[in-house]
Amino acid sequence: LNVPDLIGRKRNGEAHSAIDLNALIGGYVRGEVPDYQVAAWLMAVFFRGMTPQETGDLTLSMAHSGDMFDLSSLPRTVDKHSTGGVGDKTSLVLTPMLAALGLTVAKMSGRGLAHTGGTIDKLESIPGWNSELSDEAFLKQAREVGLALVGQSKNLAPADGLLYALRDVTATVDCLPLIASSIMSKKLASGAQTIVLDVKVGAGAFMKTVSDGEELARAMVEIGRHAGRNVRAVLTDMQAPLGRLAGNSLEVVEALATLRGEGPQDLHELCIELAVEALTAAGFPDNARARAEATLYDGSALSRFRAFVEAQGGDPRYVDDPGLLDVAPGRAEVTAQAGGFLSAIDALSVGRAVLALGGGRERKGEAIDHGVGVELLVKPGEAVVVGQPLLRVYHREERGLAWALELLSAGVSVGPDVPRAAPLILGRIG
Ligand code: URA
Repeated sequence: LNVPDLIGRKRNGEAHSAIDLNALIGGYVRGEVPDYQVAAWLMAVFFRGMTPQETGDLTLSMAHSGDMFDLSSLPRTVDKHSTGGVGDKTSLVLTPMLAALGLTVAKMSGRGLAHTGGTIDKLESIPGWNSELSDEAFLKQAREVGLALVGQSKNLAPADGLLYALRDVTATVDCLPLIASSIMSKKLASGAQTIVLDVKVGAGAFMKTVSDGEELARAMVEIGRHAGRNVRAVLTDMQAPLGRLAGNSLEVVEALATLRGEGPQDLHELCIELAVEALTAAGFPDNARARAEATLYDGSALSRFRAFVEAQGGDPRYVDDPGLLDVAPGRAEVTAQAGGFLSAIDALSVGRAVLALGGGRERKGEAIDHGVGVELLVKPGEAVVVGQPLLRVYHREERGLAWALELLSAGVSVGPDVPRAAPLILGRIG
C-alpha cells in the first residue's frame, strides 16, 4: 500500500476501491500507517467526500477491523445511537427504558467528540463505573440486566476507536461519510438486530440543516439494511441544548431526574419517541407509547439503570442520591441584557463552553473534568426581564471561565417577540 499515493488520489477527488480502503484501515489498526498520514487522508475526505459505495465499503472495513459480535443468543436485541449533540443524555434514559420494556440492549458507546458529549464520559462521573467488560461478562450482563454498555476499548470496530479520537482533534468530525461509517461500523459490529438512529440537526449538531440530516440518515439506514438489520432514523432538533444541563456529572443528574419521571419536557418526550420507534421497529408496536411512558413513572427504568450501574462496578448510592455526584463548586451566571423573550441559546456555544471549562478534550486521551458544565436557567420561548440570570456556569477554580462566559454571552439572544417553537421531531427515515 502506497499511502502518500492514496492520500493524493483522495486529495484529487478520486474514489477509492474497497481493496484500497481495506488496506488503509487494516494498516492503521495494525500500527503500520501512522496517525499523521491518516490525519491528512481524513482532511482530504473532509474536502472531497465519498461516494455512497465508498462510504459503504469504508463502513464494512471498519466494522470488520475487530470482532463482529454475535448477539444471536440474546432476545430482541436493540441498539440506539445519536449523531451527537449538546446536553444529549438520551442514551442514559432510553437504554434502561428499553431494557424495562423487555428488549435487550448490548451497546457500544463513545466518548465526547468535538463539542458534543459522549455516553461513556458521562457514565464515568459515577464512581467505580467501568466501561470495560470481557465478552462473557458483556453477554451475561445483557442477558440478566437487559442492558450492558461498553466503550470502544473492546475489540469492536477498533478502527473507529482510532479514527474517532484522531478526528476529534483534527477538525474532521463534521463530515457525512466519516460520521455515517463511524456510527454504522460500531452498530454492525455490535450485532443488534434493531437499530434506532437519532440524527441531530441544528447549530449544536454536526448536520446543520434538515436536508443534510436526511442525507446522513438515508446513508446510514441504507448501510444497515444492506447488512440485514432493522434500521430506523429520527431527525431531531439540536438548535438549543437538550434539557437544561450540559456537562458530564450534570447530565447524569438530569438523566436520573428523567428516569424518575421528573425530567425536562424535551428530553422526556424524545426518550418516549425513540422508545416507541425501537418497539415498533422490533415488532412490538401495540400500545408502545403508553408502555414506554409507564417505565418513567413506575420506577422500572430507574431500577434497570441502578442494576446496570452496579453490574459494571458503579456505586449505586449515586443513583439513589444524585446529590452525591461531583459537581464543580464554582458558579457564574450570564444575565439578560434586555427584557423580552429568550429567542435562542446556541447549542454549539454551550458545547464549546463546556469544552473550555475542561469538560471535553482538545488532545487525544486527555483527562476531563466531569464536574464542570452549564445550566440553562431559561429555555427558548420563555419570558425574561433585564438582569435575569439566563445561564449558570459550573467551573473549577475559574479554569476556562472567561472564555466560556464570552462564548455563552454570544450564544444567547433575547428578542421582543415570542419565538416560533421549534418542533422536536424534524423527520423520520426508514
Ligand atoms: N457519533 C459517532 O459515533 N461517530 C461520529 O462520527 C459522530 C457521532
